[in-house]
Amino acid sequence: MWRVLVTDEMRLGEVRNGDIRLDYRPNMPREEILKVIGGYDALITRSRTQVDEALLEAGKNLKVVGRGGVGVDNVDLEAASRRGILVVNVPEANTRSAAELAWALLLAASRGVVDSDRKIREGVWDRKYLGLELDRKTLGIVGLGRIGGQVARFAKAFNMRVLAYDPYIPRTRAETLGVELLDDLADMLRQCHFLTVHTPLNEETRGLIGRRELYLLPKGAVVVNAARGGIIDEKALIEVLSEGHLFAVGLDVFELEPPNVEHPLVQHPKVTHTAHLGANTVEAQDRVGEAVLERVIETLQGNLAYAL
Ligand code: NAD
Ligand code: MLT
Repeated sequence: MWRVLVTDEMRLGEVRNGDIRLDYRPNMPREEILKVIGGYDALITRSRTQVDEALLEAGKNLKVVGRGGVGVDNVDLEAASRRGILVVNVPEANTRSAAELAWALLLAASRGVVDSDRKIREGVWDRKYLGLELDRKTLGIVGLGRIGGQVARFAKAFNMRVLAYDPYIPRTRAETLGVELLDDLADMLRQCHFLTVHTPLNEETRGLIGRRELYLLPKGAVVVNAARGGIIDEKALIEVLSEGHLFAVGLDVFELEPPNVEHPLVQHPKVTHTAHLGANTVEAQDRVGEAVLERVIETLQGNLAYAL
């Protein structure tokens, strides 16, 4: 009998495997996770739980960590590997939903959707606001992987010119997507009316877009981050936004989640937010839940095909 602890909101469906005992505790506080994790063979989580050295050390019987999604920046892969704990994720299951949310933020930020909604609820019928059109504008994508690629496909429907910066993909991928791949990030930024980032968060991408990079964008650009907080440096973003260089910003993610309500980005009138909801559609969560459970079980049974 394998014991599996789930510490994040998931739609796992019915567990049909009699060898698995699943404990679904999506709100379990970290202190409690640390206390009980020693009794489990596998942990399944999303981004809420920091699977760090301390948690892995406490997980004396852990064999597998399943990440219900793409990003493994909340899992200490090196510490897991030192202990022989395998890590699996389901990178393809939420691509479409994440790309759609990036577009929802880009459109909402460009048209003042949230602000207008709020004003109407307050009894204010404000028709002075002017937004931005997308037709023939330039969209810059940092990271042309699964999600960045899907974002590019959607951009074509808006008749946009699409540029990308991604030093790790073959040029043929960009060509197939009808995207101009640039070797120099600064070169791309100078041309973008709209910018969206879709890289993983790692040592190389943390702060990749800072004050200098934001000022390379033409004045009045719109910036979206539906990948990970920290890829765009938050302090720089607050400064550049407050100095009036950007038209608006759309954010699904923060460096620290949930952010404090006093956080200047949370309160900024030019920022449209969602609460790390990129993967939160019925369809994506059904796919993620089914795949992560299947991969964790298979890995516990000795199939190493999904191990990172
Ligand atoms: P992916 O691996 O398919 O694509 C990432 C791309 O980034 C790759 O093409 C890679 O070459 C590129 N890249 C890496 N380092 C780079 C750098 N320094 N500069 C430019 N490009 C670089 O991953 P994906 O499935 O597209 O997901 C991307 C990220 O989106 C995930 O790592 C995750 O953090 C985030 N994500 C967020 C949500 C959400 O709910 N908001 C949902 C899914 C994924
Ligand atoms: C991911 O990396 O897949 C995202 O953070 C989505 C999520 O876990 O909600």
